[in-house]
Amino acid sequence: MPSYAYFHKQFVPLSEAKIGVMTNAFHYGTAIFEGIRGNWNSEQKQIYLFRLKEHYERLHNGCRILKIALPYTIDELCQITVKLVEMCRFEEDIYVRPLAYKSAERLGVRLHDVEDDFLAFVIPWGPYLDVDKARCGISSWRRPEETPRAKITGLYINNALAKSEAIENGFDEAIMFTSDGHVSEGSGENIFLVTDGKLVTPASYDSFLMGITRDTVIKLAQKELGIETIERQIDRSELYIAEECFFTGTAAHITPIAEIDHRKIGNGEIGEITKRLQQLYSEVIRGNNPKYLDWCTPAYKR
Ligand SMILES: Cc1ncc(COP(=O)(O)O)c(C=O)c1O
Repeated sequence: MPSYAYFHKQFVPLSEAKIGVMTNAFHYGTAIFEGIRGNWNSEQKQIYLFRLKEHYERLHNGCRILKIALPYTIDELCQITVKLVEMCRFEEDIYVRPLAYKSAERLGVRLHDVEDDFLAFVIPWGPYLDVDKARCGISSWRRPEETPRAKITGLYINNALAKSEAIENGFDEAIMFTSDGHVSEGSGENIFLVTDGKLVTPASYDSFLMGITRDTVIKLAQKELGIETIERQIDRSELYIAEECFFTGTAAHITPIAEIDHRKIGNGEIGEITKRLQQLYSEVIRGNNPKYLDWCTPAYKR
């Protein structure tokens, strides 16, 4: 099935969306990206885009940080995305990748006086970590101390180093620490622990990306399971003795963590609270829970 891209203000086949070798963002990491899930509801034969508006709010904020003058409102970005997904006609879970980038074909490290552009494309994408439960290693690569609160492409280098280090050491994913040695996040996910029956997750000062799935889980845990989330600094050894542990992310959904640094978390199986949250989340993102339909934007329908 051919895919399409929104590129240079037009919808084109994905294979025709190409950028030049001198593009500023390619050299200096000067782009803001998003990852948005389209979840296929096989009974309704429909794709629902999850928390579309919130993803574009985060993109808009990132653009302010990188001095990118995005010529679209959040509503317009949502409309472009729905149209793109409708054109692609995928009947499976998909991933939308919007990118606002410094498009000038001109070298020089700076943000000012460099033209920018916006693109988006869609690909079919199933589970990100591709394991039922992840085995993780603490990374020797840390999150940079002063991390701008945005999905800036250039910021992902330590995450890529951490991920490859973890895979080469036989793990499924890395857990990264802050520069002062506290738990921060996975290479592409936020992290939660279950301790004394409550959720615990790093607090905003722990230099992670403020995840939309993180927010979803905090809200669902509170409203549907009556479980409170404590946002605070987390030490390394707390990970090892947690009752349960899991990652959250648009791509990774809720992925249980079975093992950290060769130590089993709980009994090494998927914990009860993690399981309940996974079930709830899966129902909500596919438009199967009427209470949360506001979070689901209908897109392609067969
Ligand atoms: C580094 C990092 N942390 C956390 C997340 C989770 O964020 P979200 O739930 O908004 O996808 C992501 C994925 O976007 C990420 O790349």
